[in-house]
This record gives sequence, structure tokens and C-alpha cells, in this order.
Amino acid sequence: MKTSIPHRVIYDTDPGVDDAMALYYALAHPATDVVGVTTTFGNVTVAQAAQNALYLLAIAGRPDIPVTQGAAAPLLKRGEAPPEHIHGADGLGNLKERVATNNQADPRSSAQFIVDMARQHPGEITVVAVGPLGNLAQALFMEPALPRLLRKVVIMGGAVLEPGNVSPVAEANIWNDPHAADAVFCAGFDLTMVGLDVTHQVILPVILFQKIAQHHQHLATDTLHHAVAFYANFYSGLYPQVAEIHGCFGHDVLAFVALTNPELFTTQSGRVRVAVEGLAQGQTMLRRKDIAYPQEGWGSELRDTHVCMEVQAQTCKVLIEATLLAPWLQA
Ligand code: BDR
Ligand code: CA
Repeated sequence: MKTSIPHRVIYDTDPGVDDAMALYYALAHPATDVVGVTTTFGNVTVAQAAQNALYLLAIAGRPDIPVTQGAAAPLLKRGEAPPEHIHGADGLGNLKERVATNNQADPRSSAQFIVDMARQHPGEITVVAVGPLGNLAQALFMEPALPRLLRKVVIMGGAVLEPGNVSPVAEANIWNDPHAADAVFCAGFDLTMVGLDVTHQVILPVILFQKIAQHHQHLATDTLHHAVAFYANFYSGLYPQVAEIHGCFGHDVLAFVALTNPELFTTQSGRVRVAVEGLAQGQTMLRRKDIAYPQEGWGSELRDTHVCMEVQAQTCKVLIEATLLAPWLQA
């Protein structure tokens, strides 16, 4: 672990195209040191997620970074089939082929890895979690002191004012495991939520990834370009403002941007809870008014979450482009 780098990060992820984008941003950014990649089900099965994380790291010349396999299903609700139409059946836009790689997963579960690292480096590790939150929830069950042992948690998930992307109110990561998400919001972490309120403001064009691939002439950025092109077809079919520039939402990469450049976001702090059942299942509810509600569950024992509500979208795009164009890839 490099000690001089500001953010030592465990990246908890379900790669996933925007997950891959976020991983490469984190590897490229000088302020982040990725000390492990913990995988979960979500965009793909957890076995595929782990394979994708291993592959993305290997082809980027970082097979040294440990990868673990974690939650295979939601804590309580029934799991659903992965969204092949969004990320491809393989999670990376249906790659035509993969080169041979030989890095292997760490045998520990993702939750165990998070707990081990937090205990070994108390107060130093940040978890950036961009999939369903089962790994963090399981880690909390194993180590209730986790909120004090971790430095911060940044999640991509949820929506406050913006409509959901799975139901009128639910964002996919929270929808996929609402019980885990509620446990994470209630645990007392120093927690930042990067949800659809901001990710839907940042549209990244496919030509940006084409430019990055042409610049590096490297398998890793070629792979990312291919995956983004597939993913952009889905988003362009759904959102006219995305179709206009043939692009996609960068969702997960914005969790890292919020870590490296928090000044680009306006946040509102308050208690957040998740609806775990019924029509509103997966909704993230932010207590925005200082009212003593008669209903239980909003008490002062809950620590505030810093919820990103606005983002400087153009500056984000410039930052993502500059970060991925920098010389970060190993030969
Ligand atoms: C989130 O859901 C997944 O499809 C993406 O990877 C992102 O984490 C967006 O709602
Ligand atoms: Ca994700």
C-alpha cells in the first residue's frame, strides 16, 4: 500500500461497464490507491463480476491488486436475472474474445476482505461501493465496529429528487438489495451518496472513449471503448438527451470523482432510509426537514449521509477525460 496517496480504496463493484470505467479512473488517478477489488452480484453474477475484475486488472497491468468474490444474491429478497441488455451477457458489452490472463481471486469472501483490511489499517481505508450493498452489510454483521474502522464510504446508488431507473423511485443498486442498503445507511459510516440526482447530469459520449483508446493504443482502453459503445446503445435508446450525443451515464465513475474532487458536488446532509418493501421498495428517502416525525425510524441516533444533489457536469467530464488520457497504463 502506498502511504503518500490520499485515498486508499477498496473498490466494491459488479462490473459492469460503468464499473469498468470507474476502475480505470481509480487506477489512473494519482489520488487513489486501489488496495483491493471486492465483487458482488448485480450487473452480472458474482462469479462473472470477479472474472471481469480480474480481467480488467490484468489487461491494465495491475494483476497484483487482490480481487474477491462476495454476495451472490440479495440478503432477503429474491434475486433477479442480470440485465444483459444493459451491460451485455458478460458484463463488458459482449467482448468478442479475451486474451489469456492468470491472476486468481483471493479465496476470502468480499466481506471478510473488507473486515481484514479495516482491522489492519484502522481509520485509513475508504470503501467506494458501486453495486448492491450486500458485501458491506455482511462486513458490518461480522464487525460491528466497521463504521469506526473505515475512513469513509462513498456509494453510487439511490435517488432523492430524480426519478428512479428501476421503478419510479428506485435506483438499481438499492433496488437489488434494499435491506443491505438500509443497513449501510443506518450503520454510522461517514457516508457519501452519489445517486441519480447527479449521475443523470453527466453524459459521457462514446467518442470520448474512442479518443482515449486511440491515444493509448492499449487492450485495456480498447476493451473499455468496446464496452461503452454497447452500453451507450442502451442509454441512447432510452433517454433523448443521451441519444443526442450518443453517450451514456457515467454512474459509477462519479463515486470516485466525488472522492477525488468533492468540490465539484453540492451536497445536502440528512438521515437516509430505504424502503424495503411495497411499491416504493428501493427508494432512498432523505430527511430534508428538521421535523420530529411521529413515525419511528428517523431518530437522532442515525448519522447523516452526505447526499450529492448537484454536480459541475462539464468540469467532471474534463476531469474524467484528462485522468484517462494521462500515462497510467502499464505496458
Ligand atoms: C447503477 O446500476 C448499475 O447498472 C450500474 O453499474 C450502476 O452502478 C446505476 O443505477
Ligand atoms: Ca455498478
